[in-house]
Amino acid sequence: MKKFAVFGNPIEQSLSPTIHQMFAEQCEEVISYEKILAPVDGFVEKASSFLAQPEAVGCNVTMPFKLDAFNMANIDDQAAQDAQAANTLMKCPDGSIKGFNTDGVGLVNDLLNNNVQLENKRVLLIGAGGAARGVISPLLEASVAQLIITNRTLEKAQQISAAVSNSNLDVVALDDIAAIKPHITINSTAASLHQELPCHMSEALLDECEVVYDMVYKNSPTVFMQEAHKYGVKKRLDGLGMLVEQAAAAFSIWTGKQPKTNAIVNKVRELINNQ
Ligand code: ATR
Repeated sequence: MKKFAVFGNPIEQSLSPTIHQMFAEQCEEVISYEKILAPVDGFVEKASSFLAQPEAVGCNVTMPFKLDAFNMANIDDQAAQDAQAANTLMKCPDGSIKGFNTDGVGLVNDLLNNNVQLENKRVLLIGAGGAARGVISPLLEASVAQLIITNRTLEKAQQISAAVSNSNLDVVALDDIAAIKPHITINSTAASLHQELPCHMSEALLDECEVVYDMVYKNSPTVFMQEAHKYGVKKRLDGLGMLVEQAAAAFSIWTGKQPKTNAIVNKVRELINNQ
């Protein structure tokens, strides 16, 4: 049986085993997929011994180990390179480990599934942590007109922008975001987990905004989505679809099979609504 796992700390809350088992069933694969809690300073050891097993094919990696995963793997994947983070590892026939980052393609595919056009749009990305870094190159590749990053600590956004160096990528201070008039506003911060807003929401900021996207998902709309509703933003999406899509991209890297995600997003939504 092909063996997979997800590593994190904490990891108990992870929906990845459930999602991957649904993919496996749909694609007629028989897999095991476990959750593995690694000590904060012990990811490489744990992941290496998991991947050394003959049946192990690959693993997913979540907080706080995406940088460790990037450092332990061979990286050809541009998204992982740009993010300096890997969320997917795969064992090669010679035993070496390849690293990928499927978070960005997960976000882009979820937006496309929800009929959000990215081409020629002005996109505001709030946050400059690992979650933001993972989505920058896939958003730029989706031909957005302009991607503007803002962050509470502005220097972090400036560092990202300097590292990626793309003429369609800009940085703006939080106090100045209203002037951007984004068509799409993406919250990559964890503020919603603490019922906080990552920025000041206003009519001026949101009057041309067609879509807000919160990478956090919950069993009810996040405060960010609720505020956007108040200011008339028609489409408000949370990160559940991104979670399923990043998993689908990993599954496809490992097995060569592309699961259909629509019904699975709905099933996972039902699961979290009943939690
Ligand atoms: P992740 O890897 O999940 O992105 P991270 O690297 O800790 O996590 O980054 C968290 C991001 O959320 C950062 O951009 C952080 O802003 P700072 O760089 O100023 O710390 C942002 N963030 C977290 N809580 C926030 C809040 N309440 N308001 C605004 N930004 C917040």
